[in-house]
Amino acid sequence: MKKIRQIKKAIIPVAGLGTRMLPATKAIPKELLPILDKPLIQYVVEEAISAGIKEIILVTRSGKEAIENHFDVNFELEYLLERKGKKKILKSIKNVIPKDIKISSVKQDRALGLGHAILCASHLIDKGEPFAILLPDEFVLNNDSKNDFLRMINCFKKEGKGQILVEKIKNNETSKYGIVNLDNKKFGKKENLKITGFVEKPLAKSAPSNYRIIGRYILPHEVFNYINKTSSGKDGEIQLTDALNHIVEEQTNLEAFLSKSDIYDCGTKKGFIGANIALALSDKEILKYIKEILRR
Ligand code: G1P
Repeated sequence: MKKIRQIKKAIIPVAGLGTRMLPATKAIPKELLPILDKPLIQYVVEEAISAGIKEIILVTRSGKEAIENHFDVNFELEYLLERKGKKKILKSIKNVIPKDIKISSVKQDRALGLGHAILCASHLIDKGEPFAILLPDEFVLNNDSKNDFLRMINCFKKEGKGQILVEKIKNNETSKYGIVNLDNKKFGKKENLKITGFVEKPLAKSAPSNYRIIGRYILPHEVFNYINKTSSGKDGEIQLTDALNHIVEEQTNLEAFLSKSDIYDCGTKKGFIGANIALALSDKEILKYIKEILRR
């Protein structure tokens, strides 16, 4: 049977408790915190759609319904804005996603980790169908017109190998992320390299490299079988990295795809402020205001 190379569906896990951003996230999902004037989740959904994704699957939990509401129609608000003639604002809240894009959600009933969250959406991915995962904590600011995620999809179409976005980090940051082991540790002019293993949040001394997983994945369908066989690992959770480790052990090729973007981990205060500053600096009026503040 010919393997499918089209990537049409993206799973976006949003069930996390947002503990790193408390107290801001006590009542508000972290995915709805704004970067300039839009919630974080909207950028990620737009990133997916701009790369050709047609179906978004949110993996959520009870208490985070505001995320689904953000992508829903708010008839009362639309009616009021229409009546007041506030066309620009109306446009920004109407059709948050294009009409031909399907968005659905499934619940993760227990906080059992990223691998478990992905498994909760498995029934919505067809047999043999490869799919994407985007972790919305990570704000990926492209430096050119072709975003990393689109380049990963194009690469998968050509080579048929799973792609995992990575960036180089400092030694003291390895314990915050999934780290890849690479056959050859230098990318040089290559955009991707074969992965030989994964370690979830290792200390610097046991990290196999300095390349961390950013939170953009293009994966073959068989990942679900491997997650099913994965028992709880780091922090008592079912880790996606453990399942991916089993895949590479069994000779299925996965590749680390090097990011060309600026990445902000918005699950942390630093990253969240960084993303806001980066976007604010690209807005002429706000830039002027920031300069004024800094002169005070
Ligand atoms: C998850 C993954 C980790 C990855 C990170 C990216 O960790 O388990 O491998 O590097 O996302 O943000 P989490 O941030 O959910 O602890």
